Amino acid sequence: MAKLISTSLSPNTEPDDAVRALGIIFSPWKWKKGSAVRELENKFGEKFGFKNAYAFNSGRSCLMAILSAARIGQGDEVIVQSFTCNAVINPILSAGARPVFVDIGSDLNMDAEKLEEKINEKTRAVIVQHTFGWPADAERIKAVCEKYKILVIEDCAHALGAKKNGKYCGSAGDAAFFSFGRDKVISSVYGGMLIINNPDLIPGVEAFYSKTGNPSGFWIFQQLFHPVIMEFLVLPLYNFLNLGKIFLALAMNFNLLSKSVTPQENEGNLPDYFPAKMPNGLAILTLKQLQKLERFNRHRQELASFYMEKIKGANLGFPFGERENLGAIYMRFPVLVENPKEIFKKMRENGIYLNDGWCDSPIVPAQTSLLKMCYENGSCLFAEETVKHIISLPTSIKVSAADAERIVYLLKSLIAVKI
Ligand SMILES: Cc1ncc(COP(=O)(O)O)c(C=O)c1O
Repeated sequence: MAKLISTSLSPNTEPDDAVRALGIIFSPWKWKKGSAVRELENKFGEKFGFKNAYAFNSGRSCLMAILSAARIGQGDEVIVQSFTCNAVINPILSAGARPVFVDIGSDLNMDAEKLEEKINEKTRAVIVQHTFGWPADAERIKAVCEKYKILVIEDCAHALGAKKNGKYCGSAGDAAFFSFGRDKVISSVYGGMLIINNPDLIPGVEAFYSKTGNPSGFWIFQQLFHPVIMEFLVLPLYNFLNLGKIFLALAMNFNLLSKSVTPQENEGNLPDYFPAKMPNGLAILTLKQLQKLERFNRHRQELASFYMEKIKGANLGFPFGERENLGAIYMRFPVLVENPKEIFKKMRENGIYLNDGWCDSPIVPAQTSLLKMCYENGSCLFAEETVKHIISLPTSIKVSAADAERIVYLLKSLIAVKI
């Protein structure tokens, strides 16, 4: 049985995380209440030098908090980049504001050159996404925003620990948020941290935080159960008679696990578990993962260097270039190929699951209604072309150097045949 290699199936969960989750499942008094949330908020501040940290159950809830604190709503516009996730757009829609899209540059981040033409008197904020852990030029965007007195919100969902000019992503904006989603930099299946740098936003965030409740006990159970079933049942049996896939499908069907994005979100509606505070049980998992951050990110950088070294000169596009960026944390290593569908298929036949959903649409997942997102087809041509060609190579701790070698070997052979 070939070893399972996957980009997004519980990439950060290790056996000790799953054991810890199992322990919390059997201590239900720890699910909602305890000291872990405060400890996590304090650690976040100490580790990265951030002040004013607020833990929520997702990046989505963090973004809702910022928009509420800034009183952004009906009649307002928020600028975002294309090649983003509907999880970024839905909080804007739920606030009653309109998302306005700017095309990306070759590094998959917002093309700062194209920002100013989208700003008008209704624009209230710009969300700066650091795609796949590659730091965007937030300072440059901030300079434009200062001119128009617009808020800068850094979307650091992919960029925990990434740096630009020696400063952590999240330090430049008026506010920033991080995600601890299942396939992010560190994971508690669902979770997020909001950072406020602009003191004017603090009263609004405090008010939002205090009126926001905990998610339900059942919702917390779903997240705690995820690392347990993935680590001990689904992943070990994934490629064995499809048993792992069957267990996963059953657990999903019986609602024992949550979805990362629900069908209703593809239609522009947020489920009722947003917004919510981070519950104590998930903060315990996040604290454990936070201790692993440096090891995880070092591994990601090493694999990215390996991919660069081994496939440079091949007939591929490199959105992040072929030279190492010491500030980037490479949550993924994207490449552009002629026919990604064929490569996904051939890789899958070899037990390698590369499709992480970041393809086929300028707003992922591909089932997202662009109409409901207020996205006009043809408005961000570079992103629309990129999503037809992108494949992201995995860099997570579960992918060993030997696995990366297998991926490169297969990729090169497929490209050689194709072109
Ligand atoms: C770029 C980006 N921003 C924000 C989010 C939202 O984070 P969360 O899943 O924690 O709500 C995600 C992931 O869903 C994302 O990929």
